[in-house]
Amino acid sequence: MLAFLENRLGLFSWLRELGGTARPPREASFLQGLGFATLCVLALVIVTGIGISFHYVPSADHAYDSIRVLERDVTGGALMRALHYQGTSVLVVLAFLDLCVWFFLGLYKRPREFAWIFGIVLFALIVGGAFTGYLLPWDQNAWFATKVRLGILASAPELGPRIRDILQGGSELGSMSLGRFFTLHTMVVPLLIGLVVVIRGRVMRRHGMSPVGLRVDESPTLQGPFPSRTTWSKAFLGILAVAACFVIADRWPAELEAIADPADSNYQPRPEWYFFGPFELLKFFKGGTEAIGAFWLPNALLVVLVLLPFFDRNPERRLRKRPICLIAGALFLVTIGTLTWRGSQDKPTHYKTPAHPLHATAEMRLGYDLTRKEGCFSCHAWNAPDGIAYGQEDKDAPPMEDIEYDPEDLSELLLEPPEEMPAYPHLSEAQRVAVGKYVESLRSKD
Ligand code: HEC
Repeated sequence: MLAFLENRLGLFSWLRELGGTARPPREASFLQGLGFATLCVLALVIVTGIGISFHYVPSADHAYDSIRVLERDVTGGALMRALHYQGTSVLVVLAFLDLCVWFFLGLYKRPREFAWIFGIVLFALIVGGAFTGYLLPWDQNAWFATKVRLGILASAPELGPRIRDILQGGSELGSMSLGRFFTLHTMVVPLLIGLVVVIRGRVMRRHGMSPVGLRVDESPTLQGPFPSRTTWSKAFLGILAVAACFVIADRWPAELEAIADPADSNYQPRPEWYFFGPFELLKFFKGGTEAIGAFWLPNALLVVLVLLPFFDRNPERRLRKRPICLIAGALFLVTIGTLTWRGSQDKPTHYKTPAHPLHATAEMRLGYDLTRKEGCFSCHAWNAPDGIAYGQEDKDAPPMEDIEYDPEDLSELLLEPPEEMPAYPHLSEAQRVAVGKYVESLRSKD
């Protein structure tokens, strides 16, 4: 039977090849296991992504509610989404750290130039995955942040506006854009990532793991057969990274703001924390020079990194003997660290608006939309039963859960409000009563 499988499928030779023909060098560093840890988190993100997509509806009318139903009614749904969301943060960080390890330990040198280049491509694809996934929940932040990012993309010369229009699929971000982002996020990007991972794996196996601290012309001593010391460090880092995802997802669930309202011109989106640095950098380029910060600088860095193994002919891997790399790398890390820290100091100026009531009547939904549009939450906070505070507290305005008016009385009050509150004569009776119905539903039940 086994001989049959080997003969027909080449199963065992294939497994043997996968199991690593090249034995790692004794000089391998524990940090070289980071690549494997990155793959483990990538697998976690893909599995949770598939789980979410079973429940997700990629249309502007239903995307948001499908995420809420996933979080509320599906067993493990909220955890799944948090793992996908926070796992992506961990993935970006690990892929970045892995590139740093390759840079500082000189692993990109001859003959592993292409493994380094594919590593950069992989990092870019992971960021592309984060970018295309961000729009999918269709909440305020998703919509406005994607709008900003498409604006940045469009500032690239020549092709920029074209690419934006293709991604957007219309003059405004709508269902068409959502469909395109969904296809990119769930098919194109994962396919490319899989392809690059496989190609890179092959390239890596060809020359084996790089020895650390040796010159490129010195040959390494090899570790014992599988499982070697490196196998254990990979397993350790892989388990640690996946465990970290669970801890972070448990502590910081994925956020979901109110459903996207393109008419809300006050909303200021905030990027994920790992994009704080690049966005902070953009602030230095205003008024016609945006393309420098958004396009030329990042792409120049990319080209330099891709070409690095070809113009850095220094045979030394030890950092002490590579002063230019040491200084340039340290400067880069300090810069990106400072920019990220500065970006994190910007507090959002908008307040959080609660999500609309699920499975509500049309009147209730109208009441919600008006309450939101008329800015009631800009003075009346709402402390939801789950402990989240929405809106903005005005010390004279009672919070929503304490308002005891019934819908008809509230409708009257909106015409003749107390002194510190604006009047709403532009709303019809039916609209005012609808607001009353919605406000009534926020009342604390005890
Ligand atoms: C500019 C801030 C502001 C906005 C906007 C605002 N309110 Fe008020 N509202 C107040 C203040 C302040 C009071 C308390 C006045 C007092 O008690 O003298 C108040 C009182 C009320 C009360 C009476 C509460 C009580 O128990 O006495 C209701 C009901 C109410 N607001 C509903 C609304 C609704 C509904 C909206 C949106 C359509 C709204 N408010 C918008 C500031 C605001």
